[in-house]
Amino acid sequence: MDYSISNINSDMSFLEMMDVLNEELVRKGEAPVVFDHDCREGICGMCSMYINGRAHGPKQATTTCQLYMRNFSDGETIVIEPWRASAFPVLKDLSVDRGSFDRIMSAGGFISVNTGQAQDANAIPVNKEDADLAMDAAACIGCGACVAACKNASAMLFVSAKVSQYALLPQGQAERRERVLAMVNQMEEEGFGSCTNTGACEAECPKEISISNIARLNREYFSASITKG
Ligand code: SF4
Ligand code: FES
Repeated sequence: MDYSISNINSDMSFLEMMDVLNEELVRKGEAPVVFDHDCREGICGMCSMYINGRAHGPKQATTTCQLYMRNFSDGETIVIEPWRASAFPVLKDLSVDRGSFDRIMSAGGFISVNTGQAQDANAIPVNKEDADLAMDAAACIGCGACVAACKNASAMLFVSAKVSQYALLPQGQAERRERVLAMVNQMEEEGFGSCTNTGACEAECPKEISISNIARLNREYFSASITKG
């Protein structure tokens, strides 16, 4: 569908522009454009839009909700598409079902060991390098841009970030092997493609998750496979 819209302030966010469009459509008695959003602060990962051929639009390390209309030229035609991947079925317009990510997390993206009461922050020593790497991996917001940007629709960057954030910390050790095997098996069941190291995922990730997490995931998976019961 083509829509023409005016009176857009350059300081509006991209999603506010979509709100203005939808208000206009509703006023005219037409159906609004369905799109996903929630926090509008770059933390929930809901705002999945492919804008002018790029996941989350033209700005590096920026989610769609943090994108502003000043990043576009006056009079520009903006092409907006939903994420495209068979594991993310389109629900309507720009809204896709990312339940496949939830099922991967349910398969192993948690720590179920009873650790008792919360410990003092410094009771379990974690070296600075591992703490920083785990924190960087935990910045993944599960938006799915890595899948949408990948020509194979691979979910390796997402899964590698989630596996890494636990594998790097002492609390993640007890279920380390089961976790990586279960999450990778679920990823394959969901129909995501394989990683061929093109790097599009890292380039388009709004949280700049490093592709080196994929190397860690491969090491974790290999080591768990050869040592499993
Ligand atoms: S790795 Fe990056 S692009 Fe992929 S889901 Fe996480 S935040 Fe989004
Ligand atoms: S709406 Fe939450 S990250 Fe964009």
